[in-house]
Amino acid sequence: KIPYVVGSKSPTAVAINSASKAGEWIKSKLGMHQELNTKVSPQDLVTDVDKGAEMMIRKLILTHFPNHDILGEEGVAPGATASAAALSKASQSEYLWIVDPIDGTTNFVHGFPFFCVSIALAYRGEVIVGVIYDPIKDEMFVAEKGKGVYIHGNRGEVSKEANLSDSVIGVGFNPDREFGLPTNMKGINALANTTRSLRAGGSAALHLAYVAIGRLSGYYEVGLNAWDIAAGALMVAESGGIVTDTTGKPYDIGVRHVVASNGKIHAELLETIKAANATGIA
Ligand code: IPD
Ligand code: CA
Ligand code: CA
Ligand code: CA
Repeated sequence: KIPYVVGSKSPTAVAINSASKAGEWIKSKLGMHQELNTKVSPQDLVTDVDKGAEMMIRKLILTHFPNHDILGEEGVAPGATASAAALSKASQSEYLWIVDPIDGTTNFVHGFPFFCVSIALAYRGEVIVGVIYDPIKDEMFVAEKGKGVYIHGNRGEVSKEANLSDSVIGVGFNPDREFGLPTNMKGINALANTTRSLRAGGSAALHLAYVAIGRLSGYYEVGLNAWDIAAGALMVAESGGIVTDTTGKPYDIGVRHVVASNGKIHAELLETIKAANATGIA
């Protein structure tokens, strides 16, 4: 049984409500952001809408769970070291909410309709609730530890492909051009030659949700952060898939280099990525 705080509205209900409210607001601001700034690189964008949505989600969560900790992307100083430090500090807490107010900010800025709100709750470092909301398609993905993944009340399942050659794999072009992108490109190149096709939609969280409900056979990207992955990783695990890092280590909230799949292609997917990065991904 999930150790919920007795007497409070369920965390899952709070996560769904927060994702839904923030998502509707983000959608209403499409094409209307007022500020556009860059973070660690010119490719790494943030708008007033990212910040506003995170504030809204924080307020809603804290109304119900004033003693819980929240790790939100826009509340952390930009850069991998800062996010790792914030995560290790936050992971001391019993209940930690991990929030990506807009996953797919580049899409939001350019009007490409593929982005989402991602909210996860970890209990003593283990993700127990994951909610991802795509306000454009009005799709709400919900997972609870031990209870499966649901999209609008219907149980989701991973896809059936057993070989990479029959698989469509999600990938991402990481905005970090020093490490993330060059490393990713090696794997992407190898996968382009071995899969049915690749898709790079620009939202890590939505790609993971798509793996969980069988729209993608797998997903691979390096250099992500906890808020890109936490909710989606629980979804993939809850629908019978597998999530590891690029060495094959099982997912935990510190993982940044992600390989997720329907389970059946996992070994082949990992081997292909490892072979492409023969020197290893640190
Ligand atoms: C980004 C998206 C994108 C991925 C980047 C992430 P953001 O998150 O998930 O698909 O390629 O690595 O940083 O910045 O839009 O929340
Ligand atoms: Ca970002
Ligand atoms: Ca993100
Ligand atoms: Ca974001």
